[in-house]
Amino acid sequence: MELPAHIAIIMDGNGRWAKQRGKPRTFGHVKGTRVAKKVITECSRLGVKWLTLYAFSAENWLRPQAEVSLLMRILQRYLERETQNLVKENIRLTVIGEPERLSPDLQKVLEQSVAATSKCTGLNLVFALSYGSRQEIAAAVQKIAAQVKDGTLDPDQIDESHIQSNLWTEGMPDPDFVIRTSGEQRLSNFLLWQAAYAEFYFTETLWPDFDLSHLHTAINNYRTRSRRFGRLETSDELLSETSH
Ligand code: FPP
Repeated sequence: MELPAHIAIIMDGNGRWAKQRGKPRTFGHVKGTRVAKKVITECSRLGVKWLTLYAFSAENWLRPQAEVSLLMRILQRYLERETQNLVKENIRLTVIGEPERLSPDLQKVLEQSVAATSKCTGLNLVFALSYGSRQEIAAAVQKIAAQVKDGTLDPDQIDESHIQSNLWTEGMPDPDFVIRTSGEQRLSNFLLWQAAYAEFYFTETLWPDFDLSHLHTAINNYRTRSRRFGRLETSDELLSETSH
């Protein structure tokens, strides 16, 4: 099978990685950011079209204030330092989630990075920031209910594609491949609707240890999968099934 067109990653295990080294959790986030940078460049080099990174979940706001602010500062510094490189690498950055909940400074830098890279035509890099899938679905239902209320939408017109086009991921293809590091095997409110037919890959490797060889192993594993989307493999198989 080909390369996944859209890879989505839950970058987990930064805190444990730091703890194993007797360091504060934030040390893991700093190393995790370096890994994210390398993975972004490699996906771009390989010709992956979409890469979505779960950088901060809606639930992450419940972490201690000091950790939240450091994560915000890390993201801000990343954007300040890296935007020019993103442009050079022809990478377009967009955001899903509730960026309006982020600090005004981070929002400003984000807007600048999104604008600076808006004409890039290579990898589409998506940061999920203050992102929660249930919140996204609730927001879509509110939008759709308002369309019905103001008379612009008939309830019969609410189909899958209408729901899809009211999600924050409007215009994005669904993820083909979802990777989660650090041994946890759950989605944690990430792309619940969109990952309906995604292939999943779980690895024990903690995110700060996830290097390019791990990325290649994951992608090679994806290539061995047979994706049927609920159908049978081939029309031959279908014929032999139905003739029995
Ligand atoms: C999960 O590890 C990781 C996060 C909550 C933050 C992820 C953010 C980064 C890697 C920085 C992102 C930077 C860019 C540029 C995208 P955890 O803290 O939950 O680890 P634990 O499960 O071991 O506690």
